[in-house]
Amino acid sequence: MTTDVQAFAAKIAMLAEIFKPAAPTDDQRLFRGRRDQLARLLTVAGAPGQHAIIFGERGVGKTSVSYMLRDTYLTMAPDTTVCIRLACTAEDDFVSLWRKLPGRLTREIGLAANPHLSELLTTEVIDRVEDAFLDEPTPDAVAQVLGMLADKARLMIIIDELDRMDVLAAGAKLADLVKQISDDIVPCTLILVGVADNVSDLIAGHASVDRCLMPVSMPRMTHAELTEVVEEGFAAYSERSGVPITITENSAASIATLSEGFPYYTHLLASAVGRTAIADSRESIEFTDVFDALMVAKDEAEPSIREAYYNATIAARSDATFEETLIACAVAESDRMGFFTASDVCDPLAFILGIPRKNSDFNAHLKRFSTNTPIVLLAKTSTKTPRYRFVNPLMRPYAMMCGLSSGILKRDFLAEIR
Ligand SMILES: Nc1ncnc2c1ncn2[C@@H]1O[C@H](COP(=O)(O)OP(=O)(O)O)[C@@H](O)[C@H]1O
Ligand SMILES: [Mg+2]
Repeated sequence: MTTDVQAFAAKIAMLAEIFKPAAPTDDQRLFRGRRDQLARLLTVAGAPGQHAIIFGERGVGKTSVSYMLRDTYLTMAPDTTVCIRLACTAEDDFVSLWRKLPGRLTREIGLAANPHLSELLTTEVIDRVEDAFLDEPTPDAVAQVLGMLADKARLMIIIDELDRMDVLAAGAKLADLVKQISDDIVPCTLILVGVADNVSDLIAGHASVDRCLMPVSMPRMTHAELTEVVEEGFAAYSERSGVPITITENSAASIATLSEGFPYYTHLLASAVGRTAIADSRESIEFTDVFDALMVAKDEAEPSIREAYYNATIAARSDATFEETLIACAVAESDRMGFFTASDVCDPLAFILGIPRKNSDFNAHLKRFSTNTPIVLLAKTSTKTPRYRFVNPLMRPYAMMCGLSSGILKRDFLAEIR
């Protein structure tokens, strides 16, 4: 007999399988949008000498799209395809990155439900890879190894979190590698993935790869797509658990609004609101439940964001209004690139504080946010009027969530934005 606690734990676990802010999704059903990106990536995967770079903001869904690509690519020829994912860390350089390859190959073959793969990539083949990398792997040596592997299997290598590496040093070597395997038409597809405003940040100044490296930009997701992520997620939960949870249209829409295009926040908020519903044995989620979930969700946001917010807003004096100013920045109108000026902050700050505000009343706050580490706002002071932008775009929705949960922002504010 299952106890109440076990039944509760089972439901929470089921929800955690659906809404998982910390993990990329590889669930075909819950994956929304991104058709253009997948089409481009699949075109690249089928074209000899072509490779791709997926780039966009953190939390926008880059790793997830690379998982979808991998799954689709594998399904086309499961018996002969090897798809390896190498994730970079801050300690990695070109050499240490490629030295991960033999281990990954071994794991991939061990994992494969498919015995054909281990016939293609035998332990001798993997030993040869390891031997080839005993000396520091150069772009040349890596190209040869990839050529050798690609003779045996359809090969795709996904290099994720590229921005964590020292891009200046590793970027040039990666560019050399891309160029080389492209010129030699080695039948291996390289997919690079990283955070960057534009591709040039990642493979800076390597014009020679322009033609063989297709840029695939990942914009933020639309409000409609994020609303569907919430609705479809709860529909999947209801089916899998046999216990229905419905979410009202405006609750799903308000989660999408608060997410500002980042599926990361959609998963974080939907997970929080869902857990509360399960804990209270409720079968429906209403608009007000979203606000109650904000408190939970903001405490579970990425630690780096929480710490940066805390450090920016902590004050020795109780009459300091750093938090109000930061929240006003988060809701201030910004241009297409996310920049705003002090004048853009005046109205929302006056609204929040209920008193008129001039730039001079809070310029010192903007200075603090843009100079004290960890820096929250990037200041562009080259023009007469300084412009500001959140260093981490995930901070904007986070500050808004903090504002709504603490009451600094009134609840009806959510209905007014967008
Ligand atoms: N297309 C999508 N549909 C639904 N959820 C998504 C989609 N893309 C990403 N997610 C979710 O958003 C969160 C962040 O995705 P992730 O791929 O890790 O982003 P990134 O690699 O850009 O930081 C994860 O919870 C993931 O499940
Ligand atoms: Mg990622």
